[in-house]
Amino acid sequence: MQLINNLSSRITKYEMEIRQSIDRVITSGWLVLGPEVKQFEQSFAQYLGAEHCITLANGTDAIELALKAMGIGVGDRVATVANAGMYATTAMLAAGAEPYFMDVDFETRCTTLAEVKRAIENEVKAVIVTHLYGLAIPEISQIAVCCAQKGVLLLEDCAQAHGAELENQKVGTFGDAACFSFYPTKNLGALGDGGAVVTNN
Ligand SMILES: Cc1ncc(COP(=O)(O)O)c(C=O)c1O
Repeated sequence: MQLINNLSSRITKYEMEIRQSIDRVITSGWLVLGPEVKQFEQSFAQYLGAEHCITLANGTDAIELALKAMGIGVGDRVATVANAGMYATTAMLAAGAEPYFMDVDFETRCTTLAEVKRAIENEVKAVIVTHLYGLAIPEISQIAVCCAQKGVLLLEDCAQAHGAELENQKVGTFGDAACFSFYPTKNLGALGDGGAVVTNN
């Protein structure tokens, strides 16, 4: 039987490197954060073409803390997608914000410029867009321009799209900030939970 998420085959492939990394961490005595994490943050930011990467416990915390850092709080309306906005909704409710749901394109399952414009007309303070299935939202550039022109904050949820790009620009660098998850089944999965916020701000 073939399992869709057979993590052990992925782990076995890199077993030596993984075990060496674990040994390095144990020997260093830095079990939380520390130089290995710093190095990952720098490498990941550089890979994406972003200035900063701040690692966190998981992708949902990343969304919540990014929203709070953006000044989103009690009573603020924040847009998210109807089909993959569960994590964004959990995060915004934790920040006291109110979810506004955007519809998605039937083919791509991603939100569109038209839906982002509708959200802005409905007075959202921030928009969270979700890149899905390892691909960039086709209209992400236009969405980013529109949000910037209207003074609406744009947070990209890249939990499913590490390394995806559009016109040589990686997702996670279009908006004001972006969130990543390193949950084991993700495109870039850790041996446990992990997440990050990436930003140029
Ligand atoms: C689109 C999307 N956003 C956010 C998350 C949340 O990430 P985490 O499970 O690390 O909290 C996930 C994955 O679970 C996801 O698929």
